[in-house]
Formats: sequence, C-alpha cells, structure tokens
Amino acid sequence: MKSLLRVALFLSVTAAATGCGKKSSEGDPAAAPPPPTTAQPAAPTPTAPAPTPPPAPAAPTTPDKAQVAALFKPLPANFDDAAAPPSDAMVALGQQLYFDTRLSKNQDVSCNTCHALDKFGVDGLATSKGHKGQLGTRNSPTVLNAAGHFAQFWDGRAATIEEQAKGPVLNPVEMAMLDDAHVVAVLKSIPDYAAAFGKAFPGQPDAVTFDNMAKAIGAFERKLATPGPFDKYLAGDEAALSDDAKHGLAVFMASGCTGCHTGPLLGGTMYMKTGLTAPYADTTDTGRFAVTKVETDKFMFKVPSLRNVAKTAPYFHDGKIADLPAAIREMGKLQLGKTFTDDEVKWIGAFLDSLTGEVPAALVTAPKLPKSGPKTPKPDPS
Ligand code: HEC
Ligand code: HEC
Repeated sequence: MKSLLRVALFLSVTAAATGCGKKSSEGDPAAAPPPPTTAQPAAPTPTAPAPTPPPAPAAPTTPDKAQVAALFKPLPANFDDAAAPPSDAMVALGQQLYFDTRLSKNQDVSCNTCHALDKFGVDGLATSKGHKGQLGTRNSPTVLNAAGHFAQFWDGRAATIEEQAKGPVLNPVEMAMLDDAHVVAVLKSIPDYAAAFGKAFPGQPDAVTFDNMAKAIGAFERKLATPGPFDKYLAGDEAALSDDAKHGLAVFMASGCTGCHTGPLLGGTMYMKTGLTAPYADTTDTGRFAVTKVETDKFMFKVPSLRNVAKTAPYFHDGKIADLPAAIREMGKLQLGKTFTDDEVKWIGAFLDSLTGEVPAALVTAPKLPKSGPKTPKPDPS
C-alpha cells in the first residue's frame, strides 16, 4: 500500500516536473516526503516560527478536455426504462395526477404545489407547506432530472421515483390522505380516470390502483430531463459556455467538487457526509442515520444533483442556505476545507448557471383535469 502511494506520488511529481521542462530534486522518489497520514495539516510546534505559506497557485483557466469527458456525461433525453418505455397514455395520466389536488385531503395540495414545474420543480421555500399549511422539516428538492438519481429523498429512503410517489400522498404533513384505499376510492369516483387508467394499463381488469397511480406519476417524471448549455459544451460547442463559466468549471474540477458532484447530473450517485472538514451549523437532522441506524451514516445525505441549481434556492436539506454564492462558500468550508476568493465564487456560479436547462413546455403546463363525479368527496380541512 505504502509503495503504491509512493509510486503514485512519484508519477504525479515527475509528470509535473516533465510538464515544466526541468527535473527538480522533487522528481527523485527517494526525496519525496512520506504521504500524509491524516487530512489535518500538522500543528506548528509552539517554538518554531510559523513558516511563510507559499503563494497560492494561480487559478486554472481552461478545463482539461479529457478530464471533463471522464467526469461528466450529457443528460439523456429522458429517464425511461429503455426496455419498456411508457406509452403516451401513461405519461399523460401521470401528468394529470401530478397536478391533481384531489389527491390531497383538503383538495388544495398537489405534487406541483411543492415541486412547481414552472419554477424549476421547487417551491422556493426553506421547507414546504402541506396540509393545513403545516411545514415539513426538509427542503423540497427539484423533481427535474430526479428520476436519474440512484435513490430518492435526501436520505435515499425510496429506491425509485415510482416508489417515492406513494410517500407524499399519505404523508400527514403533505397531502394527508387517510390510506391507499381512500386514494383509490377518490380516483374511482372521478369517471374519466377509469378510462384513462384503462388506456394506460391495458389488459388489467381493475386498473385503478395505488400502485398504478405511482407508476403513471413516475412515467411522467421520467420525462423531466433538462439539457442545457453545459450539454452543448460537452458535445463540442465551445461557445456554449462563457469564459467565466469555463473558468468556473476548471476551478470546480481542480478544487475537488467533482469528488462528489459528478456524472450526467453532477450528483445523485452517492451519499456523503455534510461536514467533512468542518461541522455543519445545524446538526438536528442526522440524514441517512435515521433510516439505517448505522453510526457511520450520521449526517450522510444524498449528494444532490446540481442541474438547475441556480434556480432552486434556498439550499441544503434544511433550506437554510439562502443563495448560490453562500452554498458555494459553504461547500468549500464544509467539504474541502477551502476558502474561495470572490472571483472563484463568481466563476463557479457562472459554471453552475450553465446547468440551467429547459423542460418541454407541454410537460410543464397544467393539463385539463377530469371532472369530479357525484361520489367524489368534498375537501376536508380537518
Ligand atoms: C408539501 C410539499 C410536498 C408535496 C405535496 C410533495 N412533495 Fe415531493 N418532496 C417534498 C420534500 C420536502 C421532499 C424531500 C423530503 C426528504 O428528503 O425527506 C420531497 C422529495 C421528493 C422527491 C425526491 C427528489 C430527490 O432529489 O430525492 C421526488 C421525486 C418528489 N418529492 C416527488 C413528489 C411527487 C411525485 C409528489 C406528488 C405525489 C410530491 N413530491 C408531493 C415536498 C413535497
Ligand atoms: C464530499 C462530497 C462533496 C463535495 C466535495 C462537494 N459537495 Fe456539494 N454537496 C454535497 C452534499 C452531501 C450536499 C448536500 C448538503 C446538505 O443538504 O446537507 C451538497 C450540496 C451542494 C449544493 C446545494 C444543492 C442543493 O440543491 O441544495 C451546492 C450548490 C453544492 N453542493 C456545490 C458544490 C461545490 C461548488 C463544490 C466544490 C466547491 C462541492 N459542492 C463539493 C457533497 C459534496
């Protein structure tokens, strides 16, 4: 292990030395310092005067093309299961259900209330308002591109977007429906839904089920992919990013943000502790620990996607970080032990802006909903 580290160190040092065309003593592996054993810098001895820190290296200016290609991928057109893409009928039904407030107890909350598709899939609040205006404890993440995450929720407690869709309908502080049988009774009381479920799930004699509701909503969400300027850049269009954004991309990579925010979504591929190099200010939410009860999962959260992040303030699982510059500085401090200059924050911000994409207007617009029938319950404010 130690010799492997030595080799790695040697390779990187020689590479750097060859890069600038001269061979310094640092190129000699025997002279290389031993690899550090902890992430913390060694404490200065009280007697020795503090060494003058070396001047900060100049910020990288151009992103390395091969590195960019290895770390990121363009967004797919959608997140359909390629082996069994959904029918248009299923997606259209899912869109209606997504916007239908009759899936809530007081018929005033829909998925779109907290994940407004005309606001990049969020509500802009620190924590969302559900049934009777009750506040939840976590910030609403965007539904845009969410189907591409390896797991759902800040703590990953649902595996798929379809499984996730059942949660909010029955959550007492969100849509507050009594149980799944009640949801099915409401759906069955709306005459045109029977036909729509029949078309979406052909061959099923009793197609109006809680499971099928979630499948249809999931099929709709799988269409919410938002390619943007960064995808054009990845495809070779140099003009798609401003100079500031390219600068920001280089700093984003060189600083190590890509250790966690990588792949087509720049996130959504792993859990990580919030507060690796400094503790996060509010430790009331233990994150994934609440799901697994495993000590090492304390303060582990799903690394969020950074797609459309410029449009989804406020930030973090508790919505306590107000704006993007603050989120960038906070990440430097909490995850990398870095303090960014104002310029670096500006450049990273310009890069994150290039992740703002577009959803087809037809998917974002509220569809016409089927009329209630005589047996459809009335709103219940209790
Ligand atoms: C009252 C507000 C509210 C309503 C209504 C609501 N959600 Fe959410 N949603 C949230 C919050 C808050 C979270 C994060 C909760 C957590 O991680 O513990 C969330 C998480 C999600 C996620 C996970 C995204 C990710 O990045 O992990 C998806 C997908 C989602 N909701 C879809 C839906 C759908 C579909 C509906 C309708 C059936 C819905 N939501 C209704 C507030 C809401
Ligand atoms: C060690 C892993 C890790 C590294 C490195 C990292 N992040 Fe994060 N990032 C996370 C996690 C985990 C969260 C969720 C934090 C929370 O809500 O508790 C997050 C959240 C964010 C958010 C807020 C997203 C939202 O929707 O609330 C932004 C913006 C962000 N990171 C940008 C960056 C930038 C820029 C860098 C580099 C300076 C960076 N991150 C480095 C893991 C990381």
